[in-house]
Amino acid sequence: MHNDMEKYRIAADYISGRIDGVPQTAIILGSGLGPLADSLEQPIEIDYRDIPGFPETTVKGHAGKLICGILGGRRVLAMKGRFHYYEGYDISQVVFHIRVFRLLGISGLIVTNAAGGVNTSFRPGDLMLITDHISFFAPSPLRGGNLDEFGTRFPDMCDAYDKGLIECAEKIGKSIGIDLKKGVYAFAQGPMYETPAEIRALRILGADAVGMSTVPEVITARHCGMKVLGISCITNMAAGILERKLDHTEVVETAKKVEKTFIQLVTDIISNLRT
Ligand code: HPA
Repeated sequence: MHNDMEKYRIAADYISGRIDGVPQTAIILGSGLGPLADSLEQPIEIDYRDIPGFPETTVKGHAGKLICGILGGRRVLAMKGRFHYYEGYDISQVVFHIRVFRLLGISGLIVTNAAGGVNTSFRPGDLMLITDHISFFAPSPLRGGNLDEFGTRFPDMCDAYDKGLIECAEKIGKSIGIDLKKGVYAFAQGPMYETPAEIRALRILGADAVGMSTVPEVITARHCGMKVLGISCITNMAAGILERKLDHTEVVETAKKVEKTFIQLVTDIISNLRT
């Protein structure tokens, strides 16, 4: 039986044995945003199922591959497909990869997702830089014994999303003519979409977008000192805003429509990173 720290180390050792060089940045690709991974140069692909300790993904549109390659002139590790709490994993499994990334020496995380627009000025297809999050309704990924090797028992979350990275992304957005939105992402456990009453409540709480991922990963990344940039693709207006039902097909279709813009934005952000 391995203890938790050993499990992360075993996975990190396996990955570092399969890739060339040390990537400084990891990118987690949300629903329908996986095609960015296909634009990496010199790609080395690793199936999640080959990585000791990695869960397997079960969602349509999530491939379950780690791809190491060059993007914007820099070596990155892209995660095509992530682990969601609604898939039935224990919350510690949902964020397993983050600690593995840290042990690999990765210090920056770009986390992306598909999200419902709660802010009524948003439109499907908008890209939103996440400035903060709301996550009262979910178990913490840091629950249980603290691993001091990663971080402190009571980590600060004031700067969950790095202000410098947000500024850099905003500048790049302007320079390539994308009207980037900014806002607060609320985590919902899923897998059901929210009710209209829940969306009204989230709006009162200050949320601009809602989704079923990202926050556990960001909390874990911040706990171990990684810098985070979060980008939501607003794939639909959240429940009750328009008089229509929500459907995963719409999420994937909208993400597909913004694919090129999204890839350009992330590539330019990576090539402008100072690390
Ligand atoms: N709610 C929750 N998660 C989502 C949504 C939504 O409306 N759209 C994409 N992911």
